[in-house]
Amino acid sequence: MARIPDGFIDDLLARTDIVEVVGARVPLKRKGKEYSARCPFHDERSPSFWVSPTKQFYHCFGCGAHGTAISFLMNYDRLEFLDAVEELAKRVGVEVPRDARGRDENSDTQDLFNALEAAQRFFLKQYASSGKAQGYLDSRGVSIDIRDRFGIGYAPDGFNALRDALGTDERRMKLLERGGMLSKNDSGRVYDKFRDRVMFPIHDRRGRVIAFGGRVLDKEDGPKYLNSPETPLFHKGRELYGLWQVRQTHNKIPRLIVVEGYMDVIALFQHGVDTAVATLGTATTPDHAELLFRNTADVYFCFDGDRAGRSAAWKAVESVLPRMKDGRQAYFLFLPDGEDPDSLVRTEGSEGFNRRLREAMPLSEFFFQQIGHEVDVTTPDGKSRLAEKAKHLLKTIPDGEFRDQMEQLSLRKTATVSVSETASARVKEYAQQLGEDLRAIAKGEIPKGYAIPPLRGVSNRYVAAPPAPKRSLVRSAIAIVLQKPSLAAGLTPPYRFSALRQPGIDLLTEIVEVVQQRPEISTGALLEHFAEHPQSGALQKLASQSLPGNDDTLQREFFDAVGQLEKQMVEQRLAELQMQQGETGLGDEEKRELLALLQARLSRPRAPD
Ligand code: UTP
Ligand code: MN
Repeated sequence: MARIPDGFIDDLLARTDIVEVVGARVPLKRKGKEYSARCPFHDERSPSFWVSPTKQFYHCFGCGAHGTAISFLMNYDRLEFLDAVEELAKRVGVEVPRDARGRDENSDTQDLFNALEAAQRFFLKQYASSGKAQGYLDSRGVSIDIRDRFGIGYAPDGFNALRDALGTDERRMKLLERGGMLSKNDSGRVYDKFRDRVMFPIHDRRGRVIAFGGRVLDKEDGPKYLNSPETPLFHKGRELYGLWQVRQTHNKIPRLIVVEGYMDVIALFQHGVDTAVATLGTATTPDHAELLFRNTADVYFCFDGDRAGRSAAWKAVESVLPRMKDGRQAYFLFLPDGEDPDSLVRTEGSEGFNRRLREAMPLSEFFFQQIGHEVDVTTPDGKSRLAEKAKHLLKTIPDGEFRDQMEQLSLRKTATVSVSETASARVKEYAQQLGEDLRAIAKGEIPKGYAIPPLRGVSNRYVAAPPAPKRSLVRSAIAIVLQKPSLAAGLTPPYRFSALRQPGIDLLTEIVEVVQQRPEISTGALLEHFAEHPQSGALQKLASQSLPGNDDTLQREFFDAVGQLEKQMVEQRLAELQMQQGETGLGDEEKRELLALLQARLSRPRAPD
């Protein structure tokens, strides 16, 4: 899809009043500088949803929902990105850059959509006159209402029914082929891909048909289900069967239940469990996880209880962990042998199925159960192997409460005998050594073999560390620049602080660089830019704090923080060059650098007047 220039979006958000946009849909109450409400994205009694006119973003402390006016419309009105942009542009009376709509590219795509829509109409018509297909759905107890709602059709037997009906000229044939409706044999003959099958259309987020799944009526006839191949419209790793119907049914989707089959979605729906979706014969991908959580905060994965089911569930875990931002929850439900959601809901009804959902295993529990499976957690060795495996995966979780909780659980589960004799002896020894090292450094001596990680851009060199820089400086610089991005536009590159080795420095640098390129950017848009960043959770927390002080004091604090960081950087590098001078001497280049640094010591970035 053609991109809309960032500058246009920034400008659009700058002209939009998010309070008006949200306020038109949710009753807002003014509280000081901000507005609050009961969150429209999760159920709650007391308001934890805030809209900030100065930061131009909304944030829910309960469920973590957040974003700009654009994301609000996407989530609340369920609009696609481009449509949300159009909507806001209309409000403020500006024109969306025309090429952004990508008219040319779309005329091809539109033809493809039309071809699939025609195929869908064809299957529905065939179904209406096929006693066999109707009889099959009767035998599976699918109600008429559900057949309509899911658009279930029938692809007739024979090799050319669809082809003859719709492939009336060369261009149409090509479209059907590109849409995945035809197959070709070795001798190049083209024929219908779906024959004598009950057809389940797959819809995209706007309800357009993009693919099909077809089920055989008689057991012996080839694979039980046949799915459309990957096409320009259909990527099975990114689509969920039934999501369109769920969205049509719910204004706010309370939870999503992920099942394996078409018939599971349909039977659940018919029995009142109307929030199920199916992955299309594939494992749960990270794209699926993202799509699921964009639609709801609670996701339930439903799998067979057997080995294959467990391993499919583990794939889902790996895809979901990186999406577990605050407020989101995932659960796992394993079904009894030989049952699927279709069979269960028919025998137990929605009540029985919902009870199973309530008893589903939280992600954390399944996670530790599963990684604990292959190791013997009663031995220290097993525990350390467990810790090793957990560490690797826990790193993929975004910063936030869930990660903290998982890390604590991991520590608890892998702790060896609490402070044993040997452990405490080891700690003592270590403390002693550290104390000696520190005393030596204080006297200006470098202990033998004392290794400090090399600074960025300087390799293979051990240097004495200057006193550890305060971490809170970086944090406060980030917090301020998030609240008032325009401050960063006052800095001039190169940013010396960015060479400091400290947590958060890279992020601060990135933020400053984004603001330099998009000086109009609002807090909300900035957060959006970092939405996929591993630290996005932390950024959001910092952005939603309300900092004391006015614009002037914030500005002063920001330049102070940056100034001190730069000073630390200068000191670090000076110490390093001095070391080198003592050891191997300095080259011309390094001498020049030393001089420049000594000069930089005298000057510091200042707030522009
Ligand atoms: P199942 O074999 O569990 O079938 O496949 P099911 O959903 O219970 O189907 P019914 O009840 O017999 O009609 C689960 C899902 O795996 C995919 C399909 O998406 C199916 O819904 N699948 C299965 C295929 O893609 N091809 C197959 O041959 C079988
Ligand atoms: Mn089944």
